[in-house]
Amino acid sequence: MPAYDFIDHKYDVVVVGAGGSGLRAALGCAAAGLKTACVSKVFPTRSHTVAAQGGISASLGNMGEDDWRWHMYDTVKGSDWLGDQDAIEYLVRNAPAAVYELEHWGVPFSRTPDGKIYQRAFGGMTRNFGEAPIQRTCAAADRTGHAMLHTMYGQALAKKTEFFIEFFALDLIMDEGVCRGVTAWKLDDGTLHRFQAQLVILATGGYGRAYFSCTSAHTCTGDGNGMVLRAGLPLQDMEFVQFHPTGIYGAGCLITEGARGEGGYLTNSEGERFMERYAPSVKDLAPRDMVSRAMTIEIREGRGVGPKKDHINLHLDHLDPKVLHERLPGISESARIFAGVDVTKEPIPVLPTVHYNMGGIPTNFYSEVVTKLGKDPDKVVPGLMAVGEAACVSVHGANRLGSNSLIDLVVFGRSAALRAADTIKAGDSQPELKPGMTDGHLARFDRLRNANGKTWTAALRLEMQQAMQEDAAVFRTGASLVSGVKRLDAVQKKRADLAVSDRGMIWNTDLMETLELDSLIGQAVVTVAGAVNRTESRGAHAREDFPDRNDKTWMKHTLTWFDDASGKVKIDYRPVHDFTMTNDIAPIPPKARVY
Ligand code: FUM
Repeated sequence: MPAYDFIDHKYDVVVVGAGGSGLRAALGCAAAGLKTACVSKVFPTRSHTVAAQGGISASLGNMGEDDWRWHMYDTVKGSDWLGDQDAIEYLVRNAPAAVYELEHWGVPFSRTPDGKIYQRAFGGMTRNFGEAPIQRTCAAADRTGHAMLHTMYGQALAKKTEFFIEFFALDLIMDEGVCRGVTAWKLDDGTLHRFQAQLVILATGGYGRAYFSCTSAHTCTGDGNGMVLRAGLPLQDMEFVQFHPTGIYGAGCLITEGARGEGGYLTNSEGERFMERYAPSVKDLAPRDMVSRAMTIEIREGRGVGPKKDHINLHLDHLDPKVLHERLPGISESARIFAGVDVTKEPIPVLPTVHYNMGGIPTNFYSEVVTKLGKDPDKVVPGLMAVGEAACVSVHGANRLGSNSLIDLVVFGRSAALRAADTIKAGDSQPELKPGMTDGHLARFDRLRNANGKTWTAALRLEMQQAMQEDAAVFRTGASLVSGVKRLDAVQKKRADLAVSDRGMIWNTDLMETLELDSLIGQAVVTVAGAVNRTESRGAHAREDFPDRNDKTWMKHTLTWFDDASGKVKIDYRPVHDFTMTNDIAPIPPKARVY
């Protein structure tokens, strides 16, 4: 291996990722006087949060009475009782303050006639413990993530966060179970960097790109999840992958659930509003897992639309064009560009499309990473935190409600910063990094940089994406999942035969995509392993061979470890937290999930 030199940096906190959760954590740490670096492979305002459309949930009660307890009930029920109720209480109680904080920082929320933050209806959000849909999702037209990200980047700069932009994070520096920092490759000049820190906060997003068709950006490769697996730590609940009901047919781009929140509805080839049959009380505003399954059943039973009867229509053409212009300008444009549709006149062709990963790095509600050690299922990994879609805290359990992601980003980004301020002191001394600590990082980097097999990265990525798309879909069966396990085993073995043509260090996108693929493969393997192992249906994990939820056996979180050398997966479990954070609300007992 050639000699690689590191450029060393020392910080109190290093945040990896500059999306909504990374920026909120970083600016909070910096504001608390901690010397904070934020390392990102893309320019912060290009992070995937920018694509979030419909809004951010909080029980502000601007459009009628609301209560954090109703929001809690909806989130627990939406999660199909796999969510941790202490963390859910933390989320919903802190949500209103987090939204007002964004407002005060300058997020240009849409407004009601009397000047309050506008809130729209979203799937699974109800009043009075499931009685009827409620308007709880605070919106900046259909560009809420864009507005939040730009505002928070400004705030992070104002609070003196130091940004390291277009730095690709490689691996966690682990020292006998303690995280001491992270290594990174600077894409524009090819230098390698070692960021030593008292705390590393992973805010690296989801891994939608493990699938062929997703609403996620090409950058959503779960780099932090990959680092965690390579550090010998587990990921949690990876079998729960959310399909958003309304991706544009053929293109996969997101059409916000806010479209249905504003009165849009789905029809099949008979022109029937079929959601009335599947969810009589909330109809098109049922949670995403249910709507995606209903659409898939309609298509399977021959009631899809189009020449191949393989998609569904989303109607907005009955809405006032003024509403479309004011509330849904972004998706009106996307529909025109990607489907050739004028939404004021024609329906949008849509199909369920991979959108969100409920699973990720297990954390508690302080955002500290936890693992199972011996009999302790909540053992904190010192020096390591995770937030946002990368994390599994777990407030979304088996199925996330729309608009509960943006609020998760800012509530737990803030909680990470508060915990950092409570547990570390600015400028405290840090132990010297031991020789050889980062040799494994360099060996992997050098191996992939010089990979001279016969399998191109793009070809192997496609093989993985097709296996995931076909075998770990909206509906799964034992047979499809076993096929997925075999196909992914073949994919992971072919890592040894990868071919990288560019050996350079500067803007080597061939190598960057190979590093991303390497992380994606581990995540894909544990996703399918978790799915084949969980012999029940719960939330987004719909097994046709095990159609019922089985609380007796399966009300528990799956933990999966991936051995990078052998490709083998180890599975264990953590209990679901069926207790609340305070005594202000009793735990919500499991029951059938009827809407
Ligand atoms: O439909 C949407 O606007 C997506 C929101 C979300 O995933 O929370």
